[in-house]
Amino acid sequence: MQILNGNQVAKIIKEQISENVKKLNEKGYRNPHLTAILVGNDGASKTYVNSKEADCKQVGFNSSVFRFEQDITEDFLIEKIKEINQNPEIDGLIVQLPLPKHISELKVTQTINPEKDVDGFHSMNLGKLMKGEDTFIPATPFGILMMLEIYNINTSGKHCVVVGRSNIVGRPMSILMSQNSKFGNCTVTICHSRTQNLEKYLKEADIIIAALGKPEFVKANMVKEGAIVIDVGITRVEDKNNEKGYVLKGDVDFENVKNVVSAITPVPGGVGPLTRIGLLKNTYKSYLKSQNIEGFE
Ligand code: GUN
Repeated sequence: MQILNGNQVAKIIKEQISENVKKLNEKGYRNPHLTAILVGNDGASKTYVNSKEADCKQVGFNSSVFRFEQDITEDFLIEKIKEINQNPEIDGLIVQLPLPKHISELKVTQTINPEKDVDGFHSMNLGKLMKGEDTFIPATPFGILMMLEIYNINTSGKHCVVVGRSNIVGRPMSILMSQNSKFGNCTVTICHSRTQNLEKYLKEADIIIAALGKPEFVKANMVKEGAIVIDVGITRVEDKNNEKGYVLKGDVDFENVKNVVSAITPVPGGVGPLTRIGLLKNTYKSYLKSQNIEGFE
């Protein structure tokens, strides 16, 4: 059984990006720049945005964060996004989700310039992804693809069961796994909260991608022997014994499932660090394009 170590993969990719940025600086190019907008006080969102800033620093990117109160208007946020869209010094813009209920996530994501949409949430970018065109792959699916590639996991012809149909993870992931590409070519089943007999599908899967947001939902008896399990879940579960007051749990009962599978991602330290790399890679890609840089990947 192999543990798919996201931290290790993230370290390798960060070093590659960082070296390239240094070389480009030496050639006189400015640093890539990622901007995040954070609205309100959600604890997990704050943590994510702080981590993204730290990642940027590590690889030599500039980063900036606009922090706004929970009660800002949708119009105010839209105007701010339009300003950033116009700013030639900024390569990537993300608006951390979820947003307060009075602000339309759809309207907000559609306002971001698709060329700076490093989350890949704009319909134009999701449309390109569906057609197999070059685009910004949403960070988590992108991170999972990198993991499959680095561990050279053979996916061709395998039955991949994706649990969860969100626009951020499940749905793009299902499309990517079915695509005619080296780390695709799967037969894909997409399951969700209304799926009847979910356990039957899980048990038939060669590859499970669990993104349903229910801590330790996937148990050892639901998984086929030798399957590959990618756990996207990351839920804060109250734990008074822990100094933070919570522990992070994935969607998979890792301790028991690991004894059945051929490979599995842990939580934390699996998909999470790679999601953040997905964002860095997209920002870097946007930067190469905006600065007309050729010969770098
Ligand atoms: N909230 C949870 N995941 C994400 C993400 O990948 N991007 C943004 N912008 N918000 C999120």
